[in-house]
Amino acid sequence: MDSPDSGFPIPDSRFQISLLVVLAYAYGMSNQDPLQVESLVPRRIDEPRLLVIFGGAGDLAQKKLLPALYNLAQDGLLPKKFAVLGTGRTHRADDDYRSLVRDSVQKHSRRKPQANVLNQFEQCCFYQGADVADAASMAGFAQRIAKIESQCGTGGARLFYVSTPPEAYAEIITAVGDSGLSGGKDSPTGIIIEKPFGSDLNTSTALNELLNRYFTEPRIYRIDHYLGKETVQNLLVFRFINAIFEPLLNRHYVHDVQITVAETEGIAGRGAYYDQAGALRDMVQNHLFQLLCLIAMDAPVRFDADDIRDEKLAVLKTVGTLTPEQVQVQSVRGQYAAAGDMAGYRQEKAVKADSQTESYVALRLDVANQRWAGVPFYLRTGKRLARKVSEIVVTFRREPVPLLGGLDCNWRDPNKLIFRIQPSEGISIAFDAKLPGQRMLIRPVQMDMDYNRAFDTQSPEAYEMLIFNALAGENSHFPRADAVEQSWKIIDSIRQTWDHQSKLSPLLTYPAGSWGPDAARNLFTDPETRWQTS
Ligand SMILES: NC(=O)c1ccc[n+]([C@@H]2O[C@H](COP(=O)([O-])OP(=O)(O)OC[C@H]3O[C@@H](n4cnc5c(N)ncnc54)[C@H](OP(=O)(O)O)[C@@H]3O)[C@@H](O)[C@H]2O)c1
Repeated sequence: MDSPDSGFPIPDSRFQISLLVVLAYAYGMSNQDPLQVESLVPRRIDEPRLLVIFGGAGDLAQKKLLPALYNLAQDGLLPKKFAVLGTGRTHRADDDYRSLVRDSVQKHSRRKPQANVLNQFEQCCFYQGADVADAASMAGFAQRIAKIESQCGTGGARLFYVSTPPEAYAEIITAVGDSGLSGGKDSPTGIIIEKPFGSDLNTSTALNELLNRYFTEPRIYRIDHYLGKETVQNLLVFRFINAIFEPLLNRHYVHDVQITVAETEGIAGRGAYYDQAGALRDMVQNHLFQLLCLIAMDAPVRFDADDIRDEKLAVLKTVGTLTPEQVQVQSVRGQYAAAGDMAGYRQEKAVKADSQTESYVALRLDVANQRWAGVPFYLRTGKRLARKVSEIVVTFRREPVPLLGGLDCNWRDPNKLIFRIQPSEGISIAFDAKLPGQRMLIRPVQMDMDYNRAFDTQSPEAYEMLIFNALAGENSHFPRADAVEQSWKIIDSIRQTWDHQSKLSPLLTYPAGSWGPDAARNLFTDPETRWQTS
């Protein structure tokens, strides 16, 4: 067996250059000597690390985590001394786990694996079954960790990844802490927690308290994979590093902001979880609120994890909680009904026949601060919608005087700034232009920046970004405890009205494959507003 100590290869130069450009901008170095920027290129993490994955053979591990780790290995970004220990209740031999690792990388890696890198990566992977409810089993688990640490030279710098169903989180965290594996409060040991982080304010507070018993806040990495997406990470760079946009992003120039996260799939295979959660908990509390924070926040004092997270928290505090009267006029919830060959929500497996769970939600929120007072923020997300798209659209006010009103001007569209998050990642600016010819005819046109074309490289997957950051101990892309709790306060206030005064905001149905309930239009404060996607 090759020794993992031999380390992983160095990144290919094209990848390095594109990351250099992205990071140069991210750290505000665009006008400085490019030589200074070189130090910002993400390098192999110096410190050794052992990554222990609870749920190491689960669905997420196979589809995302192991392929992400492999890609970090291929780019030479993993520590020289590095090992993965997969765990779960099932017992497996190391060799069986390595076959699973190989299969999942071959099936799910964004790039064709390189044989030598994959061989080397596979040899760094180990597996040990453990029963977290049994102290003797945990003692055996701790011994195996010590043995791997000594064999691979990873020396106690551990990172735990909890990627199991959420019901198991508390027991796993307690077992890791009580068996001494977290290494005490001053230890560099960290923990990554998968989504969902609680199901309301009480459960998320309890989870935070439990984590804080064994880990310090800077070592707790709560996953919201949207924060690992290229366009999402670029939002702050775009807003605060470019002088031409930021002065316009406020109530003086912006008419409204729309955040859409639309999915075409239903909930097949996830019925049991989804029917308990619904779109508000599953999508709005995390992904949509993170996008809201990034587009609405003020500039952080520095590009530093806590300064950035302070500003995000301020946005959520400004949104506040919603009264029943506000929920009545500022929220719409829906559930898809069968259409064409698509089953309705209530016909999906593991969903109750009379389920009241929403598969669609639209909200109008106010960020009532100096910058945004009076600008409506519209958020919508849903399953079985017409198109898969995640975007933020900032629509600007029209010019105050209709300058071309008297002319033969047949078409006017407001200016728009569009952040495309998926399926394609990029930024577009929509504005009006004169149609070539003798008459003054106006047409909307669009300028597009596409990530893959602009940087001539494929973006790393969100999980690559996030795992790399957690291994490096950098936590600006992970939500902080106070912001998670604040977001649950908003969600709970909406749920309370939906659950206890349901007549105020009844559950509507929409045909599968449509854009959701028509009533979502009633949220608009200006009758000329339309839902926007590029
Ligand atoms: N799958 C996705 O695409 C996806 C996307 C976003 C977020 N997530 C989140 O990621 C987490 C994992 O999702 P998943 O789809 O991978 O779940 P999964 O396949 O149902 O479970 C993952 C693994 O957890 C292990 N496990 C369950 N209970 C355990 C316990 N008490 N102690 C130790 N291991 C235990 C299981 O292995 P054993 O049977 O061997 O114990 C299982 O293989 C969930 O929180 C989910 O919400 C998943």
